[in-house]
Amino acid sequence: MKGIFISFEGIEGAGKTIQSKLLCEYLLKKGYKVILTEEPGGTRIGLKIRELLLSVENKGMTPVTELLLYNASRAQHIKEVILPALKRGFVVITDRFVDSTVAYQGYGRGIDLSLIYSIEKVVTGGVKPDITILFDIDAEIGLKRNRGIKKSDRLELEDVGFHKRVRSGYLEIVSKEPERIKLIDASEGIEEIHSKIVSIVMDFIN
Ligand code: TMP
Repeated sequence: MKGIFISFEGIEGAGKTIQSKLLCEYLLKKGYKVILTEEPGGTRIGLKIRELLLSVENKGMTPVTELLLYNASRAQHIKEVILPALKRGFVVITDRFVDSTVAYQGYGRGIDLSLIYSIEKVVTGGVKPDITILFDIDAEIGLKRNRGIKKSDRLELEDVGFHKRVRSGYLEIVSKEPERIKLIDASEGIEEIHSKIVSIVMDFIN
């Protein structure tokens, strides 16, 4: 039996991390086998790459280094975690996947999208989420929310203009793939959003 692959996406402070945990708990209670994972990270090697990417000490990282490191983490994640779990029939929920690279490195940093898609082809070998939940929120509100919750990492320290470009990048991506990507208004309450996500996912499963 093939599993189901779900990714959660959005700019900083949109609430996707808490919602991915709530969905995971819901599906476990319903008896599904579920793995909740994240990018960058998800593996021992991926976590080391995550540290490199997010450390504020690495301010001098070039956009291409950044692009390649996110993809290096992803290659490891797909091989070690995502594919084996899907083959065993798990629901795999990942907090970020390829759309983050398109939005942040493509629209945010301005790297040519055709380069990003070529690397994606090599790295994913065609693995794509069945469903993507995209949390949309105003960039300034998202950043403010996040700053109250955790210490800022290297990308969060980018100016608001960067985060606005990332947000509009995500909205472009939805317009290209409305079947796969479901847009959620992240300014709504936690419970309301959770029920919407449950109904999107259960509609897909049933
Ligand atoms: P987060 O998982 O805590 O949101 O942190 C990951 C950061 O890395 C976040 O700022 C988004 C960024 N990111 C990219 O720029 N490109 C990517 O491909 C991924 C997966 C994340």
